[in-house]
Amino acid sequence: MPALVVIGAQWGDEGKGKVVDLFSEHADVVVRYAGGANAGHTLVIDGQKLVTHLVPSGVLHKGTICVIGDGTVIDPHTLVDEIAECRSRGLLPENSHLVVGHRAHVILPYHKQIEALREKQANAIGTTLRGIGPAYEAKAARRGVRVGDLLRPDRLRTIVQQNIDALAPVVEHMGEASLSVDTIVSEALAAGEKLAPHIGDASVFLAEALGAGKNVLFEGAQGALLDVDHGTYPYVTSSSTIAGGACTGTGVGPTSIDDVIGITKAYTTRVGAGPFPTELDDAEGEALRQAGDEFGATTGRPRRCGWLDIPALRHAARINGLGGLAITKLDVLRGLPQVRVCVAYELDGKRIESLPMDAEDVGRLVPVYESLPGWEEDLSGARSIDDLPVNARAYAERVAQLVGVDIVLVSVGPDRAESIHIKPPFGG
Ligand code: GDP
Ligand code: IMO
Ligand code: MG
Repeated sequence: MPALVVIGAQWGDEGKGKVVDLFSEHADVVVRYAGGANAGHTLVIDGQKLVTHLVPSGVLHKGTICVIGDGTVIDPHTLVDEIAECRSRGLLPENSHLVVGHRAHVILPYHKQIEALREKQANAIGTTLRGIGPAYEAKAARRGVRVGDLLRPDRLRTIVQQNIDALAPVVEHMGEASLSVDTIVSEALAAGEKLAPHIGDASVFLAEALGAGKNVLFEGAQGALLDVDHGTYPYVTSSSTIAGGACTGTGVGPTSIDDVIGITKAYTTRVGAGPFPTELDDAEGEALRQAGDEFGATTGRPRRCGWLDIPALRHAARINGLGGLAITKLDVLRGLPQVRVCVAYELDGKRIESLPMDAEDVGRLVPVYESLPGWEEDLSGARSIDDLPVNARAYAERVAQLVGVDIVLVSVGPDRAESIHIKPPFGG
């Protein structure tokens, strides 16, 4: 099983960093395929924490090659800083340990400027303000700067000038001045020079790795419900976050993918605006936020918290073709008399079992809950499914049964060690 995709099955922050780090022990290559530094993936090993934004979460494994695929959008300054941070920790010792796809698009200051201006308006999405949406817009409009262009000063200047000119009326209408083309170009070229040793053909690199029988792990960013096509549009990100995005975002064909693992928390969180049927906008939600330390790894924003939403997870299982489920943060639910799971919804007084197509309808759903008995024990020392208290185990197994996907991993704490491995990745 050489090609495995790991995706978030909810609205992001499911624990992808932790799971990808764990699975990377068996991977030769770990590749990011979508999004950019809107992602914040947390890795904790022996109490030491690292948050990755662009560099794949396989980075702690010294022999693993990290690839940032062509479907991502890269802020070159953020990437330069992240590489420097990795190096200061003794990671990515050789340039060859990080390959950056030359077709990936570049986030430039004018993307962030226009996003910040738009997000001040009434219909804000609550984005991460990392320039993600405007960079994907420019890509679709075919006036984006690509990573390879950072090494072509004349072309870079022409494209930047075109973008600044196109945005000028909008920016001025919103009360700001256009940014300086000279400054943008000179700073981007300086970053490009630092990134040059990493820039390459990621698609060819991955084809060769797969051809040689290497284990390649595709690291999803965001989550299925933030997918631009299949999420709660318009309250989504601007990329294909689902497993299919692993193909379009890397240039690896679908027949090469062997399995897809979806990650879900034992409850649900969401950051930013948009419908969230099981949200607990009360003391119970606040208790979950504190117990789960639910504050954004990228923006520090408090995450909205609520119960697990099974129809939403079934939607994620379908659109990703999930072959396995990793349940994280089961430890956080400790100490509750009852744990609730949303098994269906009511919409306009009628029971429905699946997520409606329209976000406005999703916003009107009334969850139908099933209650399961809680547990008092600390789960963090559990290393096998038999170590779990009966009620915690029953909860995890009920979730898997309702979603219709087998559990491959249960996570019982942020640390790499705080994990219950049920089915190792790559058949190993
Ligand atoms: P990602 O974006 O999917 O990688 O997730 P984030 O890193 O943004 O957020 C997940 C948070 O939960 C991080 O702070 C992790 O350290 C933490 N975490 C991951 N798994 C567990 C777990 O099983 N239990 C607890 N208590 N924390 C966890
Ligand atoms: P990881 O990979 C949680 C959310 C934002 C906002 C919406 C659009 O760490 O799970 P964007 O900046 O992408 O245009 O914002 O998507 N969002 C995330 N929420 N985790 C993430 O990444 C997210 N990336 C984007 O909060 O609602
Ligand atoms: Mg995150």
